[in-house]
Amino acid sequence: MKKAMKRIISLEINGKPVELTVDIRQSLLEVLREQGFTGAKEGCGVGECGACTVLIDGLPIDSCISLAVWAEGKKIETIEGQAKGERLSKVQQAYADTGAVQCGYCTPGLVMKTTEFLETHKDQLAKGEMPDRQVIRKEHSGNLCRCTGYQGVVDAVESCCKSLISEISEPEAK
Ligand code: FES
Ligand code: FES
Repeated sequence: MKKAMKRIISLEINGKPVELTVDIRQSLLEVLREQGFTGAKEGCGVGECGACTVLIDGLPIDSCISLAVWAEGKKIETIEGQAKGERLSKVQQAYADTGAVQCGYCTPGLVMKTTEFLETHKDQLAKGEMPDRQVIRKEHSGNLCRCTGYQGVVDAVESCCKSLISEISEPEAK
């Protein structure tokens, strides 16, 4: 039997500092799921489908191919950090409203990717410019979805962009 090689890592998960004892061979996905963060899913397990996407220091990462020990000192955001109580995040709500969720297996990963997309495009959105649908498709191409045909997904991202633009241009209307 292989000997477990344990290490203690300190990190932040959804804004909360945690200290975890992990096997150095464990993926971040495995450790997150062991800790109850089961929103990130294992699809392919080899970095192809994006179902396991979480944000590490704001960047979308395939947690199935990231070692948990690499998360030492980092800020991890998972789908569980999106809703506040019963209230969905704007991205989650947009996915629900546009019918971008069918079986939902890909949805946590896509929502995390969209969250990062909105952040990285915020300067453009602040100028009132909409990202092109092709850009939205291209930047979400690392997240595969077998159910929706992506139409609803792109609609959801576009809807988030539009509402951010109007919030920025009409802050008093919030
Ligand atoms: S499960 Fe990680 S990319 Fe598919
Ligand atoms: S909604 Fe089923 S895989 Fe995307």
